[in-house]
Amino acid sequence: MTTPYDPNAQVHLGVFYTGVGPQLIWTSTGNKPHVAIETFTEVAQLLERGLFDAFFLGEGLRVRENQGRIYDLDVAGRPDAITQLSALAAVTERIGLVATQNTTYNYPADLARRLASLDLLSDGRAGWNVVTTDNAWTGANFRHGGWLPHERRYERATEFVETAKALWSSWEPDAVADSAEAKSWARPGAVHDVQKDSDLVRLHARATVPASRQGRPVLFQAGDSDGGRELAARHADVVFSANTDYDKAVVYAADLRARLTRHGRSPDSLRILPGASVILGDTPEEAVERARWVREEQISGPRAIAFLEQYWNTDLSAYDPNGPLPGIEPSEGELDPSRGTIPIERRTGKHALIAEWRALSEAENLSILQLVRRVTPEHRTFVGTPSQIADEWTHYVRTRAVDGFNITPHLVPSSLEDVVDKLVPELQERGAYRTAYEGTTLREHLALPTPA
Ligand SMILES: Cc1cc2nc3c(=O)[nH]c(=O)nc-3n(C[C@H](O)[C@H](O)[C@H](O)COP(=O)(O)O)c2cc1C
Repeated sequence: MTTPYDPNAQVHLGVFYTGVGPQLIWTSTGNKPHVAIETFTEVAQLLERGLFDAFFLGEGLRVRENQGRIYDLDVAGRPDAITQLSALAAVTERIGLVATQNTTYNYPADLARRLASLDLLSDGRAGWNVVTTDNAWTGANFRHGGWLPHERRYERATEFVETAKALWSSWEPDAVADSAEAKSWARPGAVHDVQKDSDLVRLHARATVPASRQGRPVLFQAGDSDGGRELAARHADVVFSANTDYDKAVVYAADLRARLTRHGRSPDSLRILPGASVILGDTPEEAVERARWVREEQISGPRAIAFLEQYWNTDLSAYDPNGPLPGIEPSEGELDPSRGTIPIERRTGKHALIAEWRALSEAENLSILQLVRRVTPEHRTFVGTPSQIADEWTHYVRTRAVDGFNITPHLVPSSLEDVVDKLVPELQERGAYRTAYEGTTLREHLALPTPA
């Protein structure tokens, strides 16, 4: 197989603004308040200056906790994404506004209406990141508990998305009166009912708003299982992928393109944007030193204890993070991924892992804190000078491994200011990044085909 090469490929950038999460070092004095409209406005306008495709919000319907305690480094709570993006639509002009919303606990007619409203009011800049939300614990908010096993969640997600698409295309293009002389604002017969009657989605609805200038919200998808990839191949315009390492990205792109072909879609009808953290320095050494600082700040003493508690399955709060690993044996029972905090690859084999960690910490005399900083996987982080990272990203897109990245900031707004002021110009110099917005809708920024 020859590697494809496209010398004109462009880097598309979004920011995945998690709000809640260990990446954000909220303790740093340089940060702006995390649940203030001024901060969101400043960030969105900064990204617009950097000609980003999208400002992208995750969804967390419950604050993360462990052993009944809220994580010390998580920002406690974040505003609802669609509400927040509606406010930002009024203070920005071009940037795409993407809300993560799950298909397990929402209702199709309601969510489709809210997303269509954001799309209309932002004049074609809305996106929806479709997730199934993989924990029973969020379900407690909705009297649903662990409602729907994993694969059935994707069945519902597929029907949910198909229903939303049907609602969004249910107004004929010329349905709205174009003159004051018309007899009615919406032409009779031009707005169609949508009906669905399965055990997962049941409704008889009529959309309340016409389509925006981009036709419908752009569909993102996040979730890496077979069911997740199939959903992306059938319906997504963009995948928010977890496959950031180059070799994984190449394999993932080939898999996804084969799935697209099987579903009768062009390989170019989907953009792949994996998550990325970026740590820049004026020299390679400075960047590495900054990355070390970031990691130390991200993994605090209490977080190291919380990390171990998930494997020991017991309260370890009495242990000193600067002391040795707990001598006690872990409680029996499965690892509990329901708080959404255990890295996927670590969800099995806890006894073997604990034995490995004990051996490592004894051999090198590591404290709990030192060990956890060592063994927590360092995902998706690009560390280097702006020129080094621009070279690397240009290679990624020109070899079609990805179409760009969704950046998760570690300091707000300074780490994003660095990207906009230092990395973007390097990408532009290489001809791999726009020098002005060519279009006004999110679909145009992503160079996606117009939906049928
Ligand atoms: C990169 C990425 C970002 C995600 N962001 C969110 C999120 O903000 N909120 C959420 O509830 N789930 C999020 N998810 C998880 C989804 O809920 C996903 O449906 C879940 O992981 C189960 O899918 P999977 O088994 O196919 O990975 C994310 C997943 C990935 C891979």
